[in-house]
Parts: sequence; structure tokens; C-alpha cells
Amino acid sequence: MKPRENVPLKELNTFGVDARARYLLDIDTCENLAGCLEGYYSGNLPLLILGGGSNILFTGDYHGWIVLVNTKGIGILKEDSSHVWVRAEAGEVWDDLVEYALARGYGGLENLICIPGKVGASPIQNIGAYGVEMKDRFHSLQAYDIHEKKTRTFLKEDCRFGYRDSIFKRELQGRFLITSVVFKLDKHPRVHTSYGIVAEQLRENKVSDPGIRDVAEAIAAIRSRKLPDPDDLGNAGSFFKNPVISGGVYARLKLQYPDIPGYRLPAGDVKIPAAWLIDRCGFKGFRKGEAGVHEFQPLVLVNHGKATGRDILALGDSIRSAVWERFGIRLDREVWVV
Ligand code: EPU
Repeated sequence: MKPRENVPLKELNTFGVDARARYLLDIDTCENLAGCLEGYYSGNLPLLILGGGSNILFTGDYHGWIVLVNTKGIGILKEDSSHVWVRAEAGEVWDDLVEYALARGYGGLENLICIPGKVGASPIQNIGAYGVEMKDRFHSLQAYDIHEKKTRTFLKEDCRFGYRDSIFKRELQGRFLITSVVFKLDKHPRVHTSYGIVAEQLRENKVSDPGIRDVAEAIAAIRSRKLPDPDDLGNAGSFFKNPVISGGVYARLKLQYPDIPGYRLPAGDVKIPAAWLIDRCGFKGFRKGEAGVHEFQPLVLVNHGKATGRDILALGDSIRSAVWERFGIRLDREVWVV
């Protein structure tokens, strides 16, 4: 498809903020990917690859090229008696992939149900929820190198996955366009229900020996109760990451705030729920003009309708300052600010 000029982005970001792209190129088949890019993009303006727009905050117009990946296709690459390797094109909706796996009884993605976004974006921030991260099921990906103009395969170790992190957010930011991802799924799944809230929901649903569909349904119910649907209220999921502090700092904070929650990590550090810190600073349900903090999950910033990206960013900055002043903990953004 030919590029378009001066394109509105409101429908292309789940915050629903108004911004425009100078050029937008919509890529819908894999074959023409390289050709399309090389034919139109000369490299003299910045380039941004957009999946579902569910983890991005536009703070103004984008004076460059936005490439929209809409390639479709999910299929089995190979299988043995216990596993199946499923390949999905980058433009597939993440939740359609989860549904594909559930419908066939393949386990591994059920805890990641209802996460907005596209398959191609999932490795970039190593999406995760309820005790499972995308990297646990990741096998490999194919990506197009925009500088070298050739395709490259990345195995798991090449991606340097971390908590909501990968090499594509760091050293290789903006250099590769992910075209497809391969996941290794289980034919005889074992479910992960270690998260207290998931076990609770299963009890409530009167499920005693849960299968992957039961877990998916329980998690979908939790998410729809706690997290706002971007179609109703603009948002991009968690705005911040959960900060990690040292065991010593945690022990000192615990003296002052006995109810501060924390999850011990193998190295002795402690992960603190940012939602608790934000809640404690009084921001839950807070609203400033059109930008706000969600009433049930304070880690989620929302657009009440006409907020600009700058309004939302400013609110995020006030939250960061308040948490820093009160707890001496620095919050890092999870959402990508452009
Ligand atoms: N909490 C409060 N007040 C609240 C809500 C939560 O104090 O109003 C505290 C509680 O201590 C609670 C804790 O926050 O136990 C954790 O809350 P929750 O289980 O909702 O998870 P989270 O740590 O806030 C993370 C992910 C979510 C993911 C959930 C479930 C990050 C940045 N966020 O949130 O991911 O859905 O766990 O696994 O790691 C996303 O990345 O966009 C996202 C939504």
C-alpha cells in the first residue's frame, strides 16, 4: 500500500490521544515488506514501527514515518509428541493467537489472555501477567534489519529478555522490524495458578482441577474487573514498571510502613507493586483535567476523553515525584513516550 501523509493517530493508539504522523505506511503482506520499505523510506527521517499502539504515548505529532504492521497468519511450524511450534505473523492480534492455542488445547499462553496489542510487539517488552512472561514460551523471531536491509533470526538468548524488557527496547531500538514470532507450546499443558488472585477466582468459579481454558476464563474475568477497556477509557495498561529495590532498603521501609508489600527475587532484591506506592500517595482515582489515574488499578493512567499526551505525561511525572519524595523509590515508565 502507498504511504499516506499527515495521518491522524487517534484510532491507532489505545490512549486515544490526538496526534498526526507525517507519513504512514501500512504493511499488510510479508512479501512486500522489504520492497515497501526500501521503495519509500529513504532513511532521512525517523521511523517508528507501530503494532497495536497499546503501549505508546504520543506527546505531539510524529515528524517522520510510522510503519503499521498488519501481516496476518498463524500456523504450525513443527511438532513432536509433547510440543508444538506455532508461528504467528507480527500483525496478528495477540489475543487471537491466545485463542488459537486455547482452541487446540495447546498450553502456555493462557495466562496472557486479554493483553492488548499485536504479536510483533510482544517480544519487545516481553509482555507478562499472572506469573507468566512471553519469554517462557518464546522460541525465535524473524526481523527485518532496516539499516542492513536483510532478514535476521533471533533466538531466545539473542533477545536478552528481562522484566518488560528486551534488546529491542535497548541497543536495537528502532533498527529491526519484527515480522513473525515462533512460540513453543505444550500439548500436555500444566497450568500456572500460583498467583493468589487466580486461585481465588478459580475457587469462585467452582473449578477444582483447572485446565487451560479454566485458567484463561478466570484471568479474563480478573482483568475485565480490574483493568479498563481501552475502547471505553483510553489507557495503555501499566504506565510504570514495578520497581525493584535492595533487601536492605526494603527492610528499612518495612519499619516505617509495616504493610508495604514486596516480592523477594532470587538475588535477594525485592519487587514492590508500584500500584501500592501510587495508591499510598493518594492518587487512586485522581483526576487532573482530562488525564487521570484509574479508580481500581492506580498503575494505569487514563484519558477521560480529551487529554493530550502531554497532560498524561505531566500526571505521570507528578506521580513519580510524589513516590520519590515519600518513599525514595524511583518509578520507571513502562509505556513508551514518543
Ligand atoms: N495494589 C494496591 N492498590 C490497588 C491495586 C493494587 O495497593 O488499588 C497493590 C497490591 O499490593 C496488589 C499489587 O498492587 O497486590 C499488585 O497488583 P496487581 O496484581 O494488579 O498487579 P501489578 O503488579 O499492579 C502487574 C503487571 C500487569 C499485569 C498484572 C498481573 C507490571 C508493570 N504490570 O501489575 O501488566 O496484568 O501484574 O500479573 O508488571 C501491563 O504490563 O500493562 C499490565 C497491565
